[in-house]
Amino acid sequence: MVPELEKATVRIKHPERVMGIIRSIKEQGMSKLQVISDFDMTLSRFGCNGRRCPTSHNILDNSHVVSEDGKKKLKDLLHYYYPIEIDPDRTLEEKRPLMVEWWSRAHDLLSQQKILKGDIAQIVRESDVMLRDGFNELFDQLHEYDVPLFIFSAGVGDILEEIIRQANVFHPNVNVVSNYMDFDDNGVLRCFKGPLIHTYNKNNTVLQGTEYFQQLSTRTSIILLGDSMGDLTMADGVPSVENILKIGFLNDKVEEQRGKYLDAYDIVLESDETLDVVNGILRYIL
Ligand code: TMP
Ligand code: MG
Repeated sequence: MVPELEKATVRIKHPERVMGIIRSIKEQGMSKLQVISDFDMTLSRFGCNGRRCPTSHNILDNSHVVSEDGKKKLKDLLHYYYPIEIDPDRTLEEKRPLMVEWWSRAHDLLSQQKILKGDIAQIVRESDVMLRDGFNELFDQLHEYDVPLFIFSAGVGDILEEIIRQANVFHPNVNVVSNYMDFDDNGVLRCFKGPLIHTYNKNNTVLQGTEYFQQLSTRTSIILLGDSMGDLTMADGVPSVENILKIGFLNDKVEEQRGKYLDAYDIVLESDETLDVVNGILRYIL
């Protein structure tokens, strides 16, 4: 059915169940389908040639518009909080307040850097960001078949929109909910708009009031793409889900996190920098 599922990077705990979900999504047809996806380290690459690729926050942190002192402070935050974000031994309840702390402190630091709205395009162009191999096919297929792609990101909305714009795939079927920058009348960053989205509140609580999400209630088949345990709740606001296929990219601490990911995601892709499996499933469905 889907030859890509034979790839060595693919792990599935319940293959029969997964094939059943894929079959019924196909039966329901593409008019019932929507794709809900995380951005950083899901649509964008985690690494390339042994080097880490930047998240949308990292793109700003590493850019020429942030002072050396600002860079050091942002890196210190990353080194302190990222291990907490992915720590398999801490509960979500423990992690949540710490993630609010990380995002708030990072956004405060960035807001002190006099970043100009007009600099965003160049910052993205000069960065090392890469979308996963096969992104063109994914975005173009969904556009061609009018399947909504909802990007739900705890990253920086202005940056990720610019990434997909520069990649020529920001089609009209793409909608983004993320953390957006608030610029003053002179185009200088003064703060970030609320509500704050971090790794572990990607659910109804931040989607209330985003009318786009309500419009999707007739799309009862969902393919969910994520890389974090926090991405699993991204579809919680959809009122009548009939079929949901959760695909998880396991990028980091693969051995330690495998068990948890296999329990939570229907399909786990281990250290797979491509969208081959997603594209293969879509090719079968569409
Ligand atoms: P995502 O939900 O779109 O994947 O974005 C969240 C990622 O952003 C998460 O893995 C942590 C990362 N991040 C940074 O790299 N730097 C920062 O300053 C912050 C606040 C988050
Ligand atoms: Mg992510």
